[in-house]
Amino acid sequence: MRLLLIGDIVGKPGRQIVVHSVAGLVAQHSIDLVVANAENCAGGSGLTPANYRELIAAGVDCITLGDHIYRRREINSILQSEANIVKPANFPAEAPGREFAVVRARNGVDVAVISLLGRVFMRPVDCPWTAADRVLAALPSDVKVILVDFHAEATSDKQLMGRFLDGRASAVLGTHTHVPTADETILAGGTAFQCDVGMTGPFDSVLGRRVDNVLETTLTFNPTHFDVATGDVRLLATLVDVDPETGRASAIQRICLTQADADRLAAAHRASKASSKS
Ligand SMILES: [Fe+2]
Ligand SMILES: [Fe+2]
Repeated sequence: MRLLLIGDIVGKPGRQIVVHSVAGLVAQHSIDLVVANAENCAGGSGLTPANYRELIAAGVDCITLGDHIYRRREINSILQSEANIVKPANFPAEAPGREFAVVRARNGVDVAVISLLGRVFMRPVDCPWTAADRVLAALPSDVKVILVDFHAEATSDKQLMGRFLDGRASAVLGTHTHVPTADETILAGGTAFQCDVGMTGPFDSVLGRRVDNVLETTLTFNPTHFDVATGDVRLLATLVDVDPETGRASAIQRICLTQADADRLAAAHRASKASSKS
């Protein structure tokens, strides 16, 4: 079976290319489950209930977040009521949201989705290693396919988490830096690993924000609003093949769709749907 993790979706440009592309990607690659990191959806920071519904309606099956999870407080009720969105499992028990989700994939297989937050160059949180052990022990024993989104800054931390969970998770994929890494691999124990999936949003930017805003603040120390940029929108994601019987991964592939690629994909998908109807 095939799982897709879409990297941090930034603002309206990021949401638009996801909504435009998910159905085509699912059909083209025979994807069974789409997970998206949505921590930057709302104006570049946080996720609103409307953003959540838009992504789910487009075909995203499960949502992870990160350090910006509570930037829009309106999402707290969704975090508490919906079964397909998770908080970082190493947040305190009092923090709104569930520690893991079990979501039924298109092929009928249940997949566990877990989010963990790193601690290097980030706000202190509970230990991600003990949280990973705790949540894996709490999963239903028949759930073999497990996707971990490790939302962290340091590549060393991410490499360590991959090795720590090797053979215990189907995939350990990084998010948060908004910059994709070219280190995708299958580890010795059968876990698919990549330090960072990258960003879904405007690449003519600094991590999705307007260059002039970031430059002004950096040079003058005067705070500006870091508006979401607009140019060169791309969708970055990583595709993982997993044996549903064992939970072991057999392949991992980076995906990068430019706006032109997304337009072609959406047109081809519309045409194939129209021809299958006639
Ligand atoms: Fe983040
Ligand atoms: Fe992010």
